[in-house]
Amino acid sequence: MSTSTPFTRRQFLAGTAATVAVGATLSPAVARATALPERTIPTQSAALDSLSIDVTDLEVLTATPTTLTFAWSTFRRPHTDHLQPGERIPSDGEVWLAPVGRGQKLKRVHRSTSRTGFHFITITGLKPDTLYRFSCRSFGKEASPGLWFTNVTGEPEVTKHVRTLARPKGRHLQTVAICNDIHIGMKSEVDGNRKWPSVMVSSMLSELKRRGINRVYVNGDVCDEGVVAEAREMRRIFDQFGEYNRDYFFTRGNHDAYAMQSFTDPDPIRTVFPGHPLQKMWVTKDRKLRVIGLDSSWPGLGSGKIGDAQFQQLERELARDPHTPTLVMAHHPVTTHAAMSDIRMRDGILDKDDSIRLQKIFQKAPGVFFMAAGHTHRAHRDRPDFRDGPEFCQFCCATPYPGGYTLMDFYEGGYTVAFHRTATGQALKQTAQNRYDMFYGFYGEYTISRMRNRCFTVMRDMSALR
Ligand SMILES: [Fe+2]
Repeated sequence: MSTSTPFTRRQFLAGTAATVAVGATLSPAVARATALPERTIPTQSAALDSLSIDVTDLEVLTATPTTLTFAWSTFRRPHTDHLQPGERIPSDGEVWLAPVGRGQKLKRVHRSTSRTGFHFITITGLKPDTLYRFSCRSFGKEASPGLWFTNVTGEPEVTKHVRTLARPKGRHLQTVAICNDIHIGMKSEVDGNRKWPSVMVSSMLSELKRRGINRVYVNGDVCDEGVVAEAREMRRIFDQFGEYNRDYFFTRGNHDAYAMQSFTDPDPIRTVFPGHPLQKMWVTKDRKLRVIGLDSSWPGLGSGKIGDAQFQQLERELARDPHTPTLVMAHHPVTTHAAMSDIRMRDGILDKDDSIRLQKIFQKAPGVFFMAAGHTHRAHRDRPDFRDGPEFCQFCCATPYPGGYTLMDFYEGGYTVAFHRTATGQALKQTAQNRYDMFYGFYGEYTISRMRNRCFTVMRDMSALR
């Protein structure tokens, strides 16, 4: 599959897939089904040997209070889950669903066709906190999980049961969109193309607009090699979405400092964003929510570090108003639990002393309820090191697999956190390619993450955001 298709302004505005926004009014789901004349779809009994068709790579990607999103692929013949993708074939796709415990039989709730053999379907209008039995099928065959990490006991891909998220009590107040690890300029392992992250990001931004979301936070690794050309490209794309520090905000990640070995080296980010110096935090208000972005990047380091001046800046800001609901973000994960659950251990995350100092500062500011991280490219909820500390969570990456963004929906009685795969035609095509091309198909094993880490609800009094 080619990845070099230029992304035109018209596509940016309109999206490329036949998309429909349906269902609930909050973070409305964007469902996609590629239309294809029925005559071009091979049938089980005709051209293809039904025994050899492989219906696999099932992913129950996203749950919200009212939606469930499924993905899977159809291959001409059985193939390995890694190394070689095999040949995807056009196919029908069906989702069968029934709530558990009401004696209802599975009912077909969706049928569509895919020219690429890559299915991505969102079912809307579901009941919150409800366990559903499901079956995803092509050619009458049930889709099975491919990635080992979706083939783990208890995961919905194995149990064929999935629960919609609980909806916190009270009114919906606002939605916050966060993405991380966009890696503009990242070279394709297949053809050397460096434009594909731009396509993914443009697709993501067009999808956010379609959801009615006009602000986005980018949590680090905005560039891949941290050079001026990448920073310029990042700015070009985001300036089409809105205005820097009004509609889009970003923190720096380790990749953004790759070209720097010391603080005195030329700073590519600052060349393009003069008001964005190294190791400086920013604060903004998102309606009544305070959002703080910390810079955990440090020239010459892959792990994270926060300098004394930035800590003092943070302490002053929180001491001024410790109770306002506050969402903090920095590129590197923070807690001991994050270190223990990452293959690189502490070397891959925030410096240990800085982590303790940061969490002690949060102890004096009860308004800080959540800290988002990127860097690992996967979703993982990290336990705080101190009692009553905020929620810490790593979010899946935006451009490499699994390719998407995270929405936080705030209600008076809590909030939901849910990863969404970017679902324009171009983005799905790229993600289908990334599934097998990156690290020979093993990249997705680490980044697909567990359902409970990708999508969850936190009950907490958020009425101050009213
Ligand atoms: Fe990254």
